[in-house]
Amino acid sequence: IVRGMRVHVDQEKCQGHNRCVALAPDLFEVDDYGTAWVKGAGVVPEGQEEAARLALDNCPEYAITITDD
Ligand code: F3S
Repeated sequence: IVRGMRVHVDQEKCQGHNRCVALAPDLFEVDDYGTAWVKGAGVVPEGQEEAARLALDNCPEYAITITDD
């Protein structure tokens, strides 16, 4: 089990604003339909925590969530 911070995208809410990818390209990618997905099962590598929070704060659809365990 991998512990630590993880990002999640709710594809039902995502409208393809792309800010998550612009702010945290190591954590998010967008598919051909403009829907965002997390990379690497959403595991946030050390040093990427701030980028993850930035993406969460800047998604206009509130599609991004962060869990920390
Ligand atoms: Fe979607 Fe929000 Fe990113 S709408 S593309 S999760 S900024």
